[in-house]
Amino acid sequence: MKTLRKTSLVSMLIALSFLIGCKDKVQSNQDVDESVNVSYTEEDLYRPSLHFTPKEAWMNDPNGMFYYNGYYHLYFQHYPDGNVWGPMHWGHAISTDMVTWKEMPIAIFPDEKGYIFSGSAVVDVNNTSGFGKGGGQPIIAMFTYHDVEGEKAGKTNYQSQAIAYSLDEGQTFTKYSGNPVIKNPDIKDFRDPKIVWDSIHEKWLMVLAAGQKIMFYSSSNLKDWKLESDFGDGIGAHGGVWECPDFFPMVVQGTDEIKWVLLVSINPGGPNGGSATQYFVGDFDGKQFTIDPSFEKDLNSSEHKSIWIDYGRDNYAGVTWANIPDTDGRKLFMGWMSNWHYAQDVPTETWRSAMTVAREVELKKNETGYRLLSKPIKELTNYRSTKYKKENVAIKGDTKIIASDDIDLASAEVNFNISDLKDKGFTFKLTNKEGDTLAFGYNNSDESFFVDRRKSGKTDFSEKFASHVSKAKRTSLNPDLTGTIILDKTSIELFFDNGETVMTEIFFPNSPFDKLSIEPNDQEFVLGNIEIHKLNIN
Ligand code: FRU
Repeated sequence: MKTLRKTSLVSMLIALSFLIGCKDKVQSNQDVDESVNVSYTEEDLYRPSLHFTPKEAWMNDPNGMFYYNGYYHLYFQHYPDGNVWGPMHWGHAISTDMVTWKEMPIAIFPDEKGYIFSGSAVVDVNNTSGFGKGGGQPIIAMFTYHDVEGEKAGKTNYQSQAIAYSLDEGQTFTKYSGNPVIKNPDIKDFRDPKIVWDSIHEKWLMVLAAGQKIMFYSSSNLKDWKLESDFGDGIGAHGGVWECPDFFPMVVQGTDEIKWVLLVSINPGGPNGGSATQYFVGDFDGKQFTIDPSFEKDLNSSEHKSIWIDYGRDNYAGVTWANIPDTDGRKLFMGWMSNWHYAQDVPTETWRSAMTVAREVELKKNETGYRLLSKPIKELTNYRSTKYKKENVAIKGDTKIIASDDIDLASAEVNFNISDLKDKGFTFKLTNKEGDTLAFGYNNSDESFFVDRRKSGKTDFSEKFASHVSKAKRTSLNPDLTGTIILDKTSIELFFDNGETVMTEIFFPNSPFDKLSIEPNDQEFVLGNIEIHKLNIN
């Protein structure tokens, strides 16, 4: 009873601070006088509405995501004293729907053992760790200590794994006195622990990036970890260091079959350069992950000997939420919407970078094979306002679809379909009065989707940003194409073929894009259906 009261008091305090935070947000949006056409502030032009950004300073990977008592928690790699990477902290934000976020005080600070690198958090429901008091459920975070002094001294063992616990629902954490819980076995890149409760084998599992492999550990109490096996030698993409893994079982949609999915981020070596996240589908016997033979065959015949959760250049280090209730049952994913190639140079000063929209991932076995499909979470549809809908649009020359007099395109969702795609190549263009253009679409000649940000506005802050057109081979064998596009001032998230091929890219126009048009690549065709919703945050 006592614990119950304590927990609900904590929840009430979190709720109160969340409401105050949301009010601030509405207030500040109302302060903007849109009738005054002055030069844009960084906030107006580049701060996304539907994506999490830190109020100030540097952010990279999402960390420690879990759901508890009505709140989605998101922690993030954060350097609060600068707008480039630096001594890492865990920043913190909460949300009731993964769209509107309230930033909370920093949750974990670096100390004499090192910077607080990426990791995960779980709700220790049965208090297996013993950190819970009076029947309470502790939150356990696991992260990598990065010992900068050790690195400078030329050692190889400067990264180790540590835990911290929270008794106030993830607001503050106490570091465990027995840290590190996993010492470094003399491996230079040894980081990013992701814990998952394995309900099949009834134990905690943890996956860790170790050089060019993933190491699998297990535990009964979250403090003592046993190395079980590793995976990755000679399989998948190895163009850069392996980082930020995630590992979870999924029911293959429409069947009773369970397969395990391993996510592995890699930097550089992504399909379009720099950072990206590949995945593997297979089986797990409680100790060893074995790739499914059919998936291995698909990998070997794929373009880069790898299959990616997102082929764009701006979705990195993404992992999934812990403790989503069975009544919900979704696998929810979020990534960092940037790329180490240029993340520290993008033209925002107050803050740097945003997360992707939260996505629901599903595992399907379709004509292509086992594939992870991603789609924007359904909560986003609650933000829909003005709607535009047209059917059977003849695409001849450059055909205007919509301008911002009809719908403000800054934050919007576009859904479209084209039946019998075959030879129908097309290019969508977002343009503004300055002549900036973001082009994207489908190339029928090489059967690939593309995003071209070469003329999208500010691009010269890094040679790598607009060096080429990003491409993703279409893998779906479906004769018809569906597409969902999420736009939010500086980002485009493209979900083709129900999320079988995804491309996420950022851009920085000189003024807001105010027109969307489409043109055929060679032959004219009819766009079956196009539906556009403005997405309103307040
Ligand atoms: C991935 C990464 C992680 C590391 C963190 C440091 O972007 O390099 O491997 O823990 O960033 O900020």
